[in-house]
Amino acid sequence: MNVIQGGRARPCRTVAFDRPANSVLLIEQRLLPHEFKIVATKNFRETAAAIRTMVVRGAGAIGATAAYGLAQGALAFRSTSLAKFNQHVDTVYQTLKEARPTAVDPVNAMNEVRTVMRLGETVPEQQVLALAAAEEFASSDVEHCRAIGQHGARLIRNGMRLLTHCNAGWLAFVDIGSATAPMYAAQAQGKQFHVFCDETRPRSQGATLTAWELSQQKISHQIIADNAAGHLMQRGEIDLVIVGSDRVLGRTGEVANKIGTYTKAVLAHRHQIPFYVAIPLSTIDWNLKRGLDIPIEEREEAEVLGAWGITSAKKREYIRVANPTSGARNPGFDVTPPELITGIITPMGLIKPKDLWKRRGDLGHSA
Ligand code: MRU
Repeated sequence: MNVIQGGRARPCRTVAFDRPANSVLLIEQRLLPHEFKIVATKNFRETAAAIRTMVVRGAGAIGATAAYGLAQGALAFRSTSLAKFNQHVDTVYQTLKEARPTAVDPVNAMNEVRTVMRLGETVPEQQVLALAAAEEFASSDVEHCRAIGQHGARLIRNGMRLLTHCNAGWLAFVDIGSATAPMYAAQAQGKQFHVFCDETRPRSQGATLTAWELSQQKISHQIIADNAAGHLMQRGEIDLVIVGSDRVLGRTGEVANKIGTYTKAVLAHRHQIPFYVAIPLSTIDWNLKRGLDIPIEEREEAEVLGAWGITSAKKREYIRVANPTSGARNPGFDVTPPELITGIITPMGLIKPKDLWKRRGDLGHSA
C-alpha cells in the first residue's frame, strides 16, 4: 500500500528481503503511528527477536518474516555438508517457530519453504531454493489478500458502518491486509462507508495501526474504546463486522484472533449483525482438532498495567496507569466458535466455517 511521507505517497511492503545484505527489511511497527521507519535484521536470531518483540506482528507478516528468516539462516551457512546444513536449518526453523506461538502462518510458511528446499541436492541449490520459496510465500500472501478483497467487497454497501478489531490490515500481512482488503476494494469501487476501529487494548493495534492505515488510505473511520461496541450495536450503529485471524481450525471452523474478538462475536450474534473473518490460506491449521488446543500467548503484565504513547516532546514513553501494587493477567488471543461466525472470507470465496473441511481440496490441504 502507499505510505504518505512529506505529502508524497510511495508504495511499501511490510516485509521484504535485501539479498546482497542477507537481511530482512521490516517496518518498525512499535513506532507507528508516530514514526515510520524501516529496520533490517542481519541474521535469523535477530529476525526471530523482531517477531518476538513485535517489531513485526500480524499473522501473515510474521509468516513472511519467518519464511525470509529461514532463507536468511540457510543462506548464511558456509559449508558443503548437507547433513550439517540440515541440522543448522532445523535450528533456524525451531528458533523462528518459538518466537510467537498462536499464529500458525509462520509454521505453514516455513513448511512450504522446507518442502521446496528438499528439491535441491546440494547446499547451494537448497539455499537458492529457500529464498525463491520465501519470495513465493510473500507474493502469494499479497495475491491471497487481493482475492479476499474482491470476494469481501460485495459485503460492503454504500452507507454501511463496519467494525474491525485489532489490526488485520496491510501491516499484518505483506500488503493489502485481510480484514481491510474488502474495505480497500470497496473504496476502489467508489463505495462510501465508515469504519469503527476497536482500540484493542492492551497493545492498542486498532487505535495505532488500523487507524493509521485507514487515515493513510483516506477511509472514514473512528476509534472506539473496546467496551463501546455493544452499545453501538444495540443502537443499530454497526452493520457488519470483519476481523482477521491468527489461526483457523480447518477441521472445526474455530477462529483464534486477538483477545476481545470472541466478545465482539457474541455481541454481533445477539444483535444479528453479520460477523466475517478474513484469512489467506496460510492461516488455516489442518491438524488441530479442538480450539482448546490452540496455544494462546500469555504476554507480560506491563502491557495491561500501563500504556505506551508519545509525549509532547515527541518521546515514546511507557506510562503506568494501574494501581502500583496490582498484577495483571494478559492472554493475547481468544477462540471464537463457528456458530458465531457468518462466514470466512478466503481467497477462494466466502465459506461457512464448518464447511472448511469439506472444501479442503480447494483450500490447499494436500492430504
Ligand atoms: O499480537 P498481534 O498484533 O500479532 O496480533 C495479531 C493481530 O493483529 C490480530 O489478531 C489480527 O486480527 C489477526 S493477524 C492478521
